[in-house]
Amino acid sequence: MKTIIEQTDKIQMNMDTIKRAGEILKGGGLVAFPTETVYGLGADALNEQAAKKIYAAKGRPSDNPLIVHVADRESLEKITQEIPKAAELAAEAFWPGPLTLILRKSHEVPYGTTGGLETVAVRMPDHEIAREIIRAGGGYIAAPSANTSGRPSPTSARHVQDDLDGRIDMIVDGGTVKIGVESTILDMTVTPPMILRPGAVTKEMLEAVIGEIAVDQTLMDPDSKKAPKAPGMKYRHYAPAAELVVVDGEMDAVVDEINRLSREKEDAGCSVGIIATEETVGRYRTGDIKCVGTRADDSTVASHLYGILREFDRDEVEYIYSEAFAAEGIGSAVMNRLLKAAGHHVLHV
Ligand code: TXA
Ligand code: MG
Repeated sequence: MKTIIEQTDKIQMNMDTIKRAGEILKGGGLVAFPTETVYGLGADALNEQAAKKIYAAKGRPSDNPLIVHVADRESLEKITQEIPKAAELAAEAFWPGPLTLILRKSHEVPYGTTGGLETVAVRMPDHEIAREIIRAGGGYIAAPSANTSGRPSPTSARHVQDDLDGRIDMIVDGGTVKIGVESTILDMTVTPPMILRPGAVTKEMLEAVIGEIAVDQTLMDPDSKKAPKAPGMKYRHYAPAAELVVVDGEMDAVVDEINRLSREKEDAGCSVGIIATEETVGRYRTGDIKCVGTRADDSTVASHLYGILREFDRDEVEYIYSEAFAAEGIGSAVMNRLLKAAGHHVLHV
């Protein structure tokens, strides 16, 4: 299949492109489009056959449910059974935005979209192009991250093309995304509501609006034998081809240890990548050193992390050493993704 690639600006949207994307979606096809978190691979969420194509294109396990994207809050009613007061408050406070709510599904949503579950994940993205495409495509668009299963999520149209060119009908290129890690997933079917995946909407932000929030404890705990509650979180996601090790501890000790490990691997003839920060980047002595952002603002780290992992993949480095980040605010999302990419391989110094 030949993949159509069209660019459009956020402000001066190319309505022909939006219309074409909408027609493909209504016809049961696949369209990748930008959101504020990562690029999504869209299909009509209420058409089981269309949703199933997503699994084939990504190589995604069929028990991993999809998030249904909507363009306004009113759209919730058709696809859910009851909307708890706390869910209404959360949607009011954080939509459009990087928050996905798990609710009980209505009969309108096929099991092919929910991976056989009685619940449905819903999100309204904070991106004009995404919302226009959702409207043009019928209002309910299932969209996982637009990467091949097991690769880092795409933060640019180029990343989508690298993974899915020839496997999907269209890519709408709206530039680089803003946030760079996937949405926070909040399960509203349990009491208290539980975070199943950390993202840019943090536990503290949610608590300020709806009170007590629990966190799925399997997310950060490398020793947990329990499966995470979001089916997709159990897979070896976000994994670079290289062996990735996260080094945690006091900054000077971390830099020394990464320098020591990198030297050791290079002396043994291996290639090494280093994930550094603005504060430390000048202190590394060897290896392919990449600055992921500044410690003064963890959101800069979130927005560059996946792109850097992809660059290391392309350059085929064999070992990657990364500094650790404090699991606070959006840092929780950064550490969660980094730990998963590392298969929870952490060195404490
Ligand atoms: O930011 C995002 O959420 C991006 C953009 C494109 O919107 N989408 C995204 O989708 O990250 P995906 O498919 O890569 O991740 C969806 C996650 C998976 O871990 C899946 O298991 C979980 O959401 N999920 C979906 N429906 C669920 C449900 N009913 N119950 C529990 N977890 C669910
Ligand atoms: Mg994904």
